[in-house]
Amino acid sequence: MDKSIKTFLKHTAKDYHNQTVNPPVVRASTIIFKSMQDIRKTQKRGSKDPTGYHFDYGRMGTSTTFTLQQMLKKMENSYHVFLTPTGFGSVFLSIFSVVKPGDEILVADPVYSPTRLFTQDFLKNFNIRTIFYNPHDLNSLKKNITKKTKLIFVESPGSNSFEFQDLSKIITIAKKNKLFTIIDNTWATPYFFKPINLGFDMAIVSATKYYSGHSDVMGGSLAVNKRTFNLVQKAYKITGLRLGPDDAYLIIRGLRTLDIRLDKHQENAKKVASFLSKNKKIKILYPFNKGSFNYKMWKKYYSGASGLMGLKIKTKNKQSVIKFVNSLKLFGYGYSWGGFESLALHQDKQEQGNRKYSKLNKNEHLVRLHIGLEDPKDLIEDLKKSLKHIK
Ligand SMILES: Cc1ncc(COP(=O)(O)O)c(C=O)c1O
Repeated sequence: MDKSIKTFLKHTAKDYHNQTVNPPVVRASTIIFKSMQDIRKTQKRGSKDPTGYHFDYGRMGTSTTFTLQQMLKKMENSYHVFLTPTGFGSVFLSIFSVVKPGDEILVADPVYSPTRLFTQDFLKNFNIRTIFYNPHDLNSLKKNITKKTKLIFVESPGSNSFEFQDLSKIITIAKKNKLFTIIDNTWATPYFFKPINLGFDMAIVSATKYYSGHSDVMGGSLAVNKRTFNLVQKAYKITGLRLGPDDAYLIIRGLRTLDIRLDKHQENAKKVASFLSKNKKIKILYPFNKGSFNYKMWKKYYSGASGLMGLKIKTKNKQSVIKFVNSLKLFGYGYSWGGFESLALHQDKQEQGNRKYSKLNKNEHLVRLHIGLEDPKDLIEDLKKSLKHIK
C-alpha cells in the first residue's frame, strides 16, 4: 500500500461509472450475459484468473462483495480474501479447507469457545484430533507435533483471557514441520497487525466487530496467502458460504472510519485501564502492564490495541462482582463487541470452555469490558460508582 491506510480507506471503492462516492449494492443470483459466447469467455477468464472479477453466478459474489474483497486484500496484504456470512464461518472455512480424517491439529488453549467446540467435539466425529497448547509455553506446542499434525490455529490475544504469544516462533515451528498456520486476528484487525506479512497462511477477522463497527451486521473475512488459495477456494465453492451484498455494503461503509474508531477505542481503553489499574482487587487483561510477558509480545507484533479488555477480579463474593456489572449505566449487557458502544459481561467459567491452561483460580472472576467511543470521563465515572459494590 503506497498511501497510509487512513487515506486508502477514504479514497478507495469510489464508483465513477455511477458517479457515487460509494459502490452500489448489486444484488444477483442470476448474472446475465449477452450470449453463450459471453458466458464461456467469462468462465475461461475465471479459470485463468481465479481471484479476479469473472463471476457467472451470484454465489460467487457481485461487484459489491468484490469491492469489499479488494479493500480487505489491500489491508491484509494477502493473495486473496474470502468473505463469509459470519466470523465463525471464516473460522470453519479455514480449518475445513485443509484437514482430512486421520489428521491432528494444534489449537491455542484460550480460543473463542465456539472454535474450541468445533475443533474438540465436532472434528472428532471425522477422526480429526485436536490438541490444545499452552499459549505461553511453546514447548507444549512442539512436543505435540507428530507426523499426523496438519495445522496450528492461533487466536491472539486469547479469548477473554488476552494472552499474547510469540507469533514468529510459532511460524518458525510450523515452517520447520510443514504445518499450516491460521490466526484469528479479530481483536487487532490488520489495522494494528498484519499476520500474512509475518508469515501466517490464513488470517481471520470477524467483520461483525470493528469492520462493521455499528453492531448491526454480521460477516467474516479470511485472508489467505498463495500457498493456501487453491485449497480454500475449492472448499469455499462447495460449502455455499457467501456474504450478501447488503451486508458487504455496510461493512464497506464501516471500514471508511475503521482507523478513526480504532484509534479512539484505543485511547479510551488506555484511560479506562489506567483508572482500573489503581484498584487492588483487579488485574487488567490488556497490553498495559509494561513488565509483563503479554505486553512484550504485544509490543513486538502490534502497532496498537483495540477496545476489548478483561478484568480479573479477586474476591470470595461472586455476587458482588455481578452487582458491579449490573450497576453500570453506560455499559450495555450483551454478546459481541467492536461496535461504537461500551459493553460489559460477567463471564461464567463454562463460557470459556474446558480449558487446560488459561483457567480462572478459585475466587477469581472475569468481567469483559468493551470500551466504546463515549467520553472516557463518563465511562470512568460510571465504573467508579459501580466498583464500590465489589466486596
Ligand atoms: C475472536 C472471535 N473470533 C470469531 C468470532 C465469531 O464471529 P461472528 O460472531 O461474526 O461469527 C468472535 C465472536 O465473538 C470472536 O470474538
